[in-house]
Amino acid sequence: MSNNSNTEAAWNYHEATKHSYISVRTNPHSLDFPNQPLPFKIYPALEPSRLPGEVRQTGVAALSAIASRVPAHANATPDLEAVAQLLYLSAGITRQRKYSGGEIYFRAAACTGALYEVELYLVSADLADLQAGVYHFAPAEFGLQRLRAGDYRHVLVEATGNEPAIAHAPLTIVCTCTYWRNAWKYQDRTYRHFGWDNGTLLANLLAVATARGLPAKVVCGFVDATVNRLLDVDSEREVAFSLVPIGYDSGLSAQTAPRAPADLSPLGFETVPLSRHEIDYPLMREMHAASALDSTEEVAAWRGHTPPGSTDTELTNSTPSTGPAIELRPLYDAEMPTDPIEQVILRRGSSRQFARTPISLPQLSTILDRATRGVPADFLSSSFDDSGRPQLNHLYLIVHAVDGLASGAYVFHRDRGVLECLKQGDFRKQAGYLGLEQQLPADAAVDIFFLADLPPILDHLGNRGYRAVQLEAGLLGGKLYLAAYAQRLGATGLTFYDDDVSRFFSPHAEGKSAIFLVAVGHSVKQRT
Ligand SMILES: Cc1cc2nc3c(=O)[nH]c(=O)nc-3n(C[C@H](O)[C@H](O)[C@H](O)COP(=O)(O)O)c2cc1C
Repeated sequence: MSNNSNTEAAWNYHEATKHSYISVRTNPHSLDFPNQPLPFKIYPALEPSRLPGEVRQTGVAALSAIASRVPAHANATPDLEAVAQLLYLSAGITRQRKYSGGEIYFRAAACTGALYEVELYLVSADLADLQAGVYHFAPAEFGLQRLRAGDYRHVLVEATGNEPAIAHAPLTIVCTCTYWRNAWKYQDRTYRHFGWDNGTLLANLLAVATARGLPAKVVCGFVDATVNRLLDVDSEREVAFSLVPIGYDSGLSAQTAPRAPADLSPLGFETVPLSRHEIDYPLMREMHAASALDSTEEVAAWRGHTPPGSTDTELTNSTPSTGPAIELRPLYDAEMPTDPIEQVILRRGSSRQFARTPISLPQLSTILDRATRGVPADFLSSSFDDSGRPQLNHLYLIVHAVDGLASGAYVFHRDRGVLECLKQGDFRKQAGYLGLEQQLPADAAVDIFFLADLPPILDHLGNRGYRAVQLEAGLLGGKLYLAAYAQRLGATGLTFYDDDVSRFFSPHAEGKSAIFLVAVGHSVKQRT
């Protein structure tokens, strides 16, 4: 049960899962490869029906698709072909690579450790070529397994306290996260990864929805138990994390949404165990339980409370600029790469090595500008508009090699489109250290850190605000990836030494928490 005045659970979890120089040296964990979890959820008794492999290419430029969205009330309904494209480009298998221990099935969005703990489900009305039902997406077969027949959208309308985007959507995609699949490697820190890995997937999903002319929104407020029951997941192992209503039907509303078949009885479908045995990390389940919403009233009260300090104006007012400000100079329209979103998603793959060659200020400016034009989400202000663009995470940069920008540490002010210099210098060595002593952040052209002022976020959004802030970071990080690859640059998500990051950017970042990190630069190996 979430209680905004008691956010101890989020603080405990956050503190307990910080990485530090000492924590990584005192953690005896090693990877038990014979017990590695399966990369897919398998229902042996359910034959998947194949999704169409041939889909219409939208041709919409990735840099437009990530930066804009279809108006919330534009009537649009996806058909099966659109569903196939949305699923493929957010969670489909896009590459395979053999290694000594087996095969890695790389998916469309970046994911910590390539462990892919996010599963997708559909809750759908009758669509062209798809009967109303609740479905599980099976990426290995590129198919759908029907779990329930009939229109169950009303369950989601109730579970979200009549969230209008859900009430009007012909289709909602439900994202769940499976603890063990990621905790096998990352232990308790996996709950943070739920937000990151679900977020990168959502960056792709929202961009593709936009390219297809479909309104879409991220919904984090729902009665957890109801959604888990609808999917019949074992909530000790797998939990609903976010909902994405897709499309808009003006003829529908909370009142007119078809009544669900009343019966939400367990389905009892067998699933193949992920491993021979699983190790429990109770801290994550405690965090999840403490951030659960238990009733529609609680959901309605939770929604739409954008915390103070989450708009740039407020951030700027609370921390006035003192350092020199450098204006962003995004590429002119005529220079802007127009590579379509489909192509860019398939081209993306985390950089494994950066060349120490500079990117240009217009390239960096375009990445920052296009990736931060706002996220349609229920945890942000309901008066969301393009000028307000509320955002929970603040972007701090370590610049190593950007032509036209002195090397140093910067904070990004979205409202004014400027980078404020906090300190100048060559910080490659420090950046490598901050990114968990890896080479990638030391070699990148720029490291983009996400920091959040957790006290007001948790005060307003309770423990569930912790889910929201991680999810938003993953989503913005996913957009940074796409904005980089649209310009034929490389990028990779990275993990970090929490408190050292805050210290590095202080005094400006005093009191803020490190949430996420993406490095950008020229990959040594360019993906075509
Ligand atoms: C949130 C996040 C954190 C990551 N952290 C690291 C990291 O610390 N080191 C690293 O080499 N790769 C990291 N990666 C990259 C993943 O290993 C990569 O996404 C995964 O292997 C899938 O490959 P792909 O991105 O090329 O599709 C991270 C990715 C994400 C999304």
